[in-house]
Amino acid sequence: MTRGRFITLEGMDGAGKTTHLEWLKERLQTMGIALKVTREPGGTALGESLRGLLLDSHESRQPETEALLMFAARNEHIAQVIAPALFAGQWVLCDRFTDATYAYQAGGSGMDWSRITELERWVQGDLQPDLTLYFDLAPEIGKTRTRAAREPDRFEREQLDFYARVRAAYLRRAQEHPQRIRVIDAARTIPEIQIELENIISNI
Ligand code: TMP
Repeated sequence: MTRGRFITLEGMDGAGKTTHLEWLKERLQTMGIALKVTREPGGTALGESLRGLLLDSHESRQPETEALLMFAARNEHIAQVIAPALFAGQWVLCDRFTDATYAYQAGGSGMDWSRITELERWVQGDLQPDLTLYFDLAPEIGKTRTRAAREPDRFEREQLDFYARVRAAYLRRAQEHPQRIRVIDAARTIPEIQIELENIISNI
């Protein structure tokens, strides 16, 4: 039995990740590929509970705490869902994975990059995605897509700075892993992006 392919999707809000995930899912299923679609944080009962805790609460917390919770959820997700599916020959399409921890907890929130590398080695061992599609978009464009354009206030300015750091960290990851991570210019139209995705999946 050959191991399935592990594909992850990354990008900021407004970059169209969800739309492209749906399209990819249908496209791969039409090709007759047995597929497991999942997400992080989440994918297991524990992971979904941690997702609720992480995303619904606005109380301030250390980025290290967030990263530890992300990796706790990830450990369970790999053991219960990702590894069994891959070894059964299924492909796994995962909405976000460890690149998001580098981007958000290190890039956005300033946590030490190398600590994440330690957690990555510990939790993942040799497991890495075969392909990561990173939908790249300037934060200003992401914002204007989700809301009418106007001058950002101070809070929004801080948010834009945060997302600029998130983006820079994603781009750093892409530079460090050029074989795995494909940077997709998400400022283009959906049909233009789909042509590129079609090309990428027909070559893996
Ligand atoms: P999304 O699934 O709707 O894109 O949202 C997930 C949120 O969780 C998003 O703001 C990014 C964040 N996140 C992290 O901060 N670190 C991580 O490791 C992961 C997987 C997600």
